[in-house]
Amino acid sequence: MTKLTLTADGSHTLELEGVGEHYHSTEGAIEEARHVYLRPCLYEAFDHFPTAEPLSLFEMGFGTGLNALLTMLAAEQYRRPVCYTAVELHPLPNEVYEKLNYPQCLDIPREHFLQLHDAPWGETVPITPWFSLCKLQVDMVDFRFPSDAHFHAVYYDAFAPQYQPQLWTADIFGRLSQALVDGAILTTYCCKGDVKRALCAAGFQVQKLPGYGRKREMLRAFQQSDSQTK
Ligand SMILES: C[S@@+](CC[C@H](N)C(=O)[O-])C[C@H]1O[C@@H](n2cnc3c(N)ncnc32)[C@H](O)[C@@H]1O
Repeated sequence: MTKLTLTADGSHTLELEGVGEHYHSTEGAIEEARHVYLRPCLYEAFDHFPTAEPLSLFEMGFGTGLNALLTMLAAEQYRRPVCYTAVELHPLPNEVYEKLNYPQCLDIPREHFLQLHDAPWGETVPITPWFSLCKLQVDMVDFRFPSDAHFHAVYYDAFAPQYQPQLWTADIFGRLSQALVDGAILTTYCCKGDVKRALCAAGFQVQKLPGYGRKREMLRAFQQSDSQTK
């Protein structure tokens, strides 16, 4: 069960009741998403990869759809096509996502947000001229990426390792790495030593960046071409 909570920037997050874990920072869900995923990952990928082909992005944990929404708005603003693939084991029910206040916070029509949730699962659908979405209801633990996957950017937004250690392993990062193009960029709010080591073991080059709010650090990782085995 999840509980709707207001964060410090006025945007909602969800709390896993009885666990105390939140979907976002309680110091600001929208601001954290911009700090951890938009600026160091999406915008960096826009700069790094050529404009000719759509930017292919993978998200671990669709959840509230906030990262997808901000990415869709950025794709429109910068007129860069983005193909967004997200996995989610437990999609939110209508009565939960309909209460999220992201449209009001971002001053956009409610339908622009709801269409991300209402989009069908298991297929790629155009949402706007610049943004297509493929939501997959699968368990990341045993998910096998299609052999033609070639993501340029990854938002790794699983619950923290103390709650879900199985989602932060070198094995998962290794499989993910095989689905990335050379130089692909991954960011995550997490900066645990074990996670950094798991990413390095999977062949990523890892750097620490200033974290959001009370978090001193976060991680950004780059796919290195010589770690590719495909
Ligand atoms: C920290 S929340 C972040 C969600 C999202 N990025 C957002 O902005 O709302 C983690 C998400 O991962 C999902 N999740 C947990 N375990 C999973 C698994 N094994 N496979 C796929 N998704 C999972 C959760 O249901 C939750 O939506």
